[in-house]
Amino acid sequence: MSGILLLLLSLSCLVATVPPPVPCRHCCDHLEPAEGSGAQPRSYAPEVRTYINMTILKGDKGDRGERGTPGKAGLEGPPGSIGPAGSKGSKGQAGLPGDPCKVQYSAFSVGRRKSLHSLDSYQTLVFDTVFVNLDDHFNMFKGTFICHIPGIYFFNVNIHTWNFKETYLHIMQNDTERAIVYAQPSDRSIMQSQSLMLELELSDEVWVRLYKRERENAIYSDDVDMYITFSGYLIKPSEERE
Ligand SMILES: *[C@@H]1O[C@H](CO)[C@@H](O)[C@H](O)[C@H]1NC(C)=O
Ligand SMILES: *[C@@H]1O[C@H](CO)[C@@H](O)[C@H](O)[C@H]1NC(C)=O
Repeated sequence: MSGILLLLLSLSCLVATVPPPVPCRHCCDHLEPAEGSGAQPRSYAPEVRTYINMTILKGDKGDRGERGTPGKAGLEGPPGSIGPAGSKGSKGQAGLPGDPCKVQYSAFSVGRRKSLHSLDSYQTLVFDTVFVNLDDHFNMFKGTFICHIPGIYFFNVNIHTWNFKETYLHIMQNDTERAIVYAQPSDRSIMQSQSLMLELELSDEVWVRLYKRERENAIYSDDVDMYITFSGYLIKPSEERE
């Protein structure tokens, strides 16, 4: 009995040592007789893995389940590109006629209590007192009336001369002298004035400047009374004329 076992073991060891190269098995391991061992006595039985094909075990397909509740909304996507321009719309209807009774106003009247000696050849006359300044068309900081309503305007300047000194002023429209206020040096100081009408475009500026030549140029005032005034107002807006 032991001799047969020994023979079997040695045989199995012999079989095991024959290629293909596989890890050596212990001679005492139980060996299942290979299938068809008669036909292939020297082939080594490969390792058998149990594999269950689930497909075979599968039953019939079940009924369709009920529809689940809808999921949460996803994140907002990036904005799309701008679409092509649409076609031009049709022409609108004509508007209502304007109000023929609408009146446009522009008026200012300013004054100065301080006397003035001009130092430079040209010096802007600025004012320190406002009598009237509708819609702030007169810029007190610059000493300039700025036209907001194109049209015909009336302007007036009054000054008090200084005895033995010249008084020489320009009434300006932008950078152009339009009229002069002048008084020769004299032993008597007098009131002097100038008035004119000007046709103004939008943004035109009207202002007064002292013009100094070789002689001293001055305007008299006494800090108390009002001698120096500059006034202007719209007479007729341009739009009305058509
Ligand atoms: C499993 O079995 C099915 C049905 O017999 C067959 O069609 C399929 O090829 C098998 N799958 C594998 C991996 O063997
Ligand atoms: C006067 O000056 C203003 C401001 O610089 C300008 O807008 C306007 O066109 C000028 N007017 C003329 C007649 O040059």
